[in-house]
Amino acid sequence: MTRRVAIFISGGGSNMVSLVDSMTGDHPARPCLVLSNAADAGGLTKARARGVATAVVDHRPFKGDRPAFEAALNAVLRDHAPDLICLAGFMRVLTEGFVGGWQGRILNIHPSLLPKYRGLNTHARALEAGEREAGCTVHEVTPELDEGPILGQSRVPVLDGDTPETLAKRVLKQEHILYPAVLRRFAEGDRRPIYLP
Ligand code: GAR
Repeated sequence: MTRRVAIFISGGGSNMVSLVDSMTGDHPARPCLVLSNAADAGGLTKARARGVATAVVDHRPFKGDRPAFEAALNAVLRDHAPDLICLAGFMRVLTEGFVGGWQGRILNIHPSLLPKYRGLNTHARALEAGEREAGCTVHEVTPELDEGPILGQSRVPVLDGDTPETLAKRVLKQEHILYPAVLRRFAEGDRRPIYLP
């Protein structure tokens, strides 16, 4: 049975593009929706260009009421009936109420080697700490931020003279390889982690 995948974005959506473009041929999943909390997210145009349905649920009118925002997300999801959700640069924190409803069916990519550097500004913090290695992690989403079982990791070296921007670029390249590899395996029902390169 083909698995239907909803992808949540907030920005440029390069991870979303790598996921959408991977779901062809004998892949066990297909994209059914790209959803953004920001109407101006560049990824929306890229999704439409690929023939994927898009939706916007602006978080701002729900300020201070996350459950109401999440009810609006779920209302849109009901129309598209996804089996899985992939968070791909979705910059809103989801509550236990939402995550609980999707437990075991929601993945996230984070630009650090979790459990190191949960939260924001991962690359600047890794450089400040003098790390010689950085990377990215795909994990199952649980109510705690950037926790949940690890489904894949990819490591890159930190180079002399790296800035948060140069490091982010190197990590992002690996994200585009790791996330599709993990999604494919996960959609096949295999939750063993993948370690790249
Ligand atoms: C990616 O680096 C992703 O790992 C990160 O945002 C970027 C989105 O880029 N996600 C987080 O920081 C989540 N906490 P993209 O829109 O080009 O995929």
